[in-house]
Amino acid sequence: MSTLSAERPEAAAPVLSMRGVSKHFGAVAALTDIDLDVHAGEVVALVGDNGAGKSTLVKILAGVHPQDAGTVNFDGKDVTIHSPVDSIQLGIATVFQDLALCDNLTVVDNLFLGRELGPWRLNEVEMEVQSWKLLRQLSAKIPSVRIAVASLSGGQRQTVAIARSLLGSPKLIILDEPTAALGVAQTAEVLNLVERLRENGLAVIMISHNMQDVKAVSDRVAVLRLGKNNGTFRMKDVSTDDLIAAITGATDNVVTQRAAQAGAAQAGAGETGAAGAGAAAGSDALADEGAQDSRPADWPGEPNEGPGGQGPGGRGPGGGGLPPGQAGSAGQSGPGAAPEEGTVP
Ligand SMILES: Nc1ncnc2c1ncn2[C@@H]1O[C@H](COP(=O)(O)OP(=O)(O)O)[C@@H](O)[C@H]1O
Ligand SMILES: [Mg+2]
Repeated sequence: MSTLSAERPEAAAPVLSMRGVSKHFGAVAALTDIDLDVHAGEVVALVGDNGAGKSTLVKILAGVHPQDAGTVNFDGKDVTIHSPVDSIQLGIATVFQDLALCDNLTVVDNLFLGRELGPWRLNEVEMEVQSWKLLRQLSAKIPSVRIAVASLSGGQRQTVAIARSLLGSPKLIILDEPTAALGVAQTAEVLNLVERLRENGLAVIMISHNMQDVKAVSDRVAVLRLGKNNGTFRMKDVSTDDLIAAITGATDNVVTQRAAQAGAAQAGAGETGAAGAGAAAGSDALADEGAQDSRPADWPGEPNEGPGGQGPGGRGPGGGGLPPGQAGSAGQSGPGAAPEEGTVP
């Protein structure tokens, strides 16, 4: 072990720590006994097949649904998130997949919608100055802040939605499929933006179906399967095949075998956590000194269709600086409700 928190954010106390979180919808167990840690300056990808529980987990954090059981610790305090306002006030910003932008309004209007600077007369100049400042800090390529959002590209719209969420000075930002439906160049733009968020000390949860994107920017990846933790991996230690095996539940691979061992050891130790559970179990194959990861916690291990690998993604360029503490208070988008259809990566 060497000097810790600078190079390994997970050595510090997590910004978000969920333990034993469960959620039912009637007879459907959407989440069962979920553990998740996210640290400042860390990007954690949340992956899993459709119906795995990703959106439900996000909605618990966003104050859309209350959990049935378990604890959420945020910034060192156990919290109960009753509403989206609670979530935002805690410092959790959620950028839902639909972005909830108003197409007919300008970039500035969207950024300050519901929290216009004023208070008696709109301070248009100041809002425009702040918009530019924020977008420049994100190195966003937006041609003008006075054009309608409708005329922006998908990547630019994502950038505006993320910029808007930053006005509340969050500590944790949750991005739901930020690169879905984006082309190659726009995806790169958004991934750069994610790295910039990390550089500026935010804790980031990124839901994604795209393993290349996940590999490109994540420090760790948390796999959900059928509403349960199915492994938390440090990105540099895990192959795409192993990730996909964890997502699909394929058994004929080394990860599963190790997981089974870890699970057995863990059961003995009476421990369930995936993400911060520590050194006890199954860490022999870990490439570095870390106390966690590569150690699936709760492994149902039923056979399933085989993995289909994808190439690795390169790390995008970083850069830029975003001083903490933007003005204003947050106002966040309305969530989409229904689980979506689709396929595994
Ligand atoms: N509002 C809801 N009412 C009933 N069932 C739901 C609701 N939201 C999610 N579910 C169910 O919970 C499970 C997890 O869904 P979800 O969190 O949307 O998964 P994911 O986002 O990983 O695709 C699924 O079985 C889904 O059908
Ligand atoms: Mg979903």
